[in-house]
Amino acid sequence: MNTDILIIGSGAAGLTAALQLAQKYQVTVLAKGALSDGATAWAQGGIAAVLEPGDTFESHIEDTMVAGGGLNNRETVEFVVENAPEAIRRLAELGVPFNLDGPDDGDWHLTREGGHSHRRIVHVDDATGWAVQQALETAAKANPNITLVPDMVAIDLIVGRHQERFSTSGRVHGVYALNRTSGKVEAFTARATILATGGAGRTYLYSTAPRGATGDGIAMAWRAGCRVSNMEMMQFHPTCLYNLEVKNFLITEAVRGEGGILKNPKTGHRYMPDYDERAELAPRDIVARANDAEIKRDGLDFVHLDISHKDPEFVKGHFPNIYDKLIGLGIDITTQPIPVVPAQHYTCGGVLVDLDGRTDAPGLYAAGEVTQSGLHGANRLASNSLLECFVFGDACAAHIDAHWDTLPPPPPIRGWDESRVTDSDEEVVIAQCWREIRQFMWNFVGIVRTTKRLERAKHRIDLLRREVEDYYSHFRVTPDLIELRNLVEVADLIIRSALSRHESRGLHYTLDYPAMLPKATDTVLVP
Ligand code: FAD
Ligand code: SIN
Repeated sequence: MNTDILIIGSGAAGLTAALQLAQKYQVTVLAKGALSDGATAWAQGGIAAVLEPGDTFESHIEDTMVAGGGLNNRETVEFVVENAPEAIRRLAELGVPFNLDGPDDGDWHLTREGGHSHRRIVHVDDATGWAVQQALETAAKANPNITLVPDMVAIDLIVGRHQERFSTSGRVHGVYALNRTSGKVEAFTARATILATGGAGRTYLYSTAPRGATGDGIAMAWRAGCRVSNMEMMQFHPTCLYNLEVKNFLITEAVRGEGGILKNPKTGHRYMPDYDERAELAPRDIVARANDAEIKRDGLDFVHLDISHKDPEFVKGHFPNIYDKLIGLGIDITTQPIPVVPAQHYTCGGVLVDLDGRTDAPGLYAAGEVTQSGLHGANRLASNSLLECFVFGDACAAHIDAHWDTLPPPPPIRGWDESRVTDSDEEVVIAQCWREIRQFMWNFVGIVRTTKRLERAKHRIDLLRREVEDYYSHFRVTPDLIELRNLVEVADLIIRSALSRHESRGLHYTLDYPAMLPKATDTVLVP
């Protein structure tokens, strides 16, 4: 299938770009499962933006840089922060029902999260992402220039070696993708391709991210020749619900923003002031490490997050979804503390992009969690992520539109070759490799690292890579095999990046190099 612009991913980044481009062009959007299956629909806390007198761009920029350990690119931070209010206004126009404090549009109810020195998070109760995803999807479905294609698993970007006439130009012409319904691999070609495939949280055993967060876009871009940066900066959220049945339910940082405190369940001691003067509202890396330290020191299964000292109506009013979910699990958050543990939450590193969303490969753009744009540095500030999706989704669209005449139509492409593979007779290999990767990434490449543990992880990933490559070359692709191949690639990029950083900065904390180097330098891996 040929289209003007191909977008891989139907979350906040992908649909923002699609809606802008569809004003003039035919746009096709692929999703590997249902359209709402990405992380966007799961976002709870909200979106950060300077929206009221007393707050300033300078303050939002400063908070972003402090949380990011100075590794951020100041130009990118300014670009995103200054475009934030406009992005919020456009979402409100699309129908996102942000909570308001007063009768007028713009009387936003702003909540607070860790690392922010001001109340600046607009939100829709405690389920902001769901409201945003629905508004974007509704607009995209109503637009005749947008074709939405769910259940289409992108495998590899189409580059020169896939052309009927072999080329070494490095230009990307689209993607090969597995149709889950027919089981066939199809080629999608376009003048420009935007990667909006989200993060790689499922590289870790415990993660708040959805099942599909397997780093597919990062791995595909890497294989297509793009540089990847800061992959060691994997963010762990301090407060994921600890429950034996429900494994990855986030308890939003806004609970701490509205007064929730962390306590050691054994002693009842409120410990965060011992770790940081900002206590529960310190940036996430600090709170996650504190929770981890309490758990490990006292042999606990979890720590307690307690908001039961607040008025019950206030708690239910601010966190209706969390209240309902936890009541269903036998925890009344208006009277009881919530058992929580840290879990992987966000991929700060990714495909290197410039302020126009351009990657290293001509014709390939990227936006959202798949990228390393310079916004987050060594640790993402809470609620800056959806924001990045809107601003960079727009930036990609604007650049494509401004340079449309210079983008060549795709050349004839070879079909997917299945002549030398058969159906797998050993699916157990896939399940086993998935489990192994996620387990050793959690144990050896987690919140606190050492060189020895990273080397152990590297040894294991090298072994698994050989097995998975062998398997991939012999058997027909399935969604699980495609994801496993990407998980191996991304885990390897994370481990190599972590091994190469000889300091502790932001999310990368290693006992072998506890100090921070005087100069902040990005880790950049070149294929
Ligand atoms: P996603 O929304 O993850 O979408 C990825 C898309 O790519 C999906 O459509 C998926 O199907 C598609 N895709 C992936 N691989 C393939 C493939 N191989 N082929 C085809 N399609 C593919 N951020 C905030 O700013 N505020 C918050 O309050 C907040 N809360 C969060 C709560 C949770 C529980 C989580 C997990 C994250 C939260 N975040 C929050 C982070 C934020 O939600 C994500 O960073 C953001 O939504 C990412 O959007 P995206 O468009 O880049 O990707
Ligand atoms: C949360 O609600 O705690 C998540 C916010 C974010 O990831 O930015």
